[in-house]
Amino acid sequence: MKKVTVRVCSGTTCFVMGASNLQMLHEYVPEELRDWVDIQGAHCLELCRDRNYGAAPYITIDDEIVAEADLSLILERIEQRVRG
Ligand code: FES
Repeated sequence: MKKVTVRVCSGTTCFVMGASNLQMLHEYVPEELRDWVDIQGAHCLELCRDRNYGAAPYITIDDEIVAEADLSLILERIEQRVRG
C-alpha cells in the first residue's frame, strides 16, 4: 500500500461546480484506507484557467489531476493508487 495526498480545490469555480459536496470526503474513505490517505483543502489549483470550466471540480491525487471529480470517481482513484 502507498500513502497518497488528495487536494480538493475549494476555489469558486470548483466549489460552485460540485466541490462543495466533497468537503466531507474523509468520511467516505473506507476505514481500511484512511491511514493511507491525506486529504487537504486547497485554494484554486489554477486548473480552471487553462481548461474548460465545465470540467470542474478538480482534485489532485499526488501528481494526477482528476477533472469532473465526484465522490465515486475519487474513491475509485484513491483505492487504485493506495493499493497500487
Ligand atoms: S477553482 Fe478549482 S481549479 Fe480554479
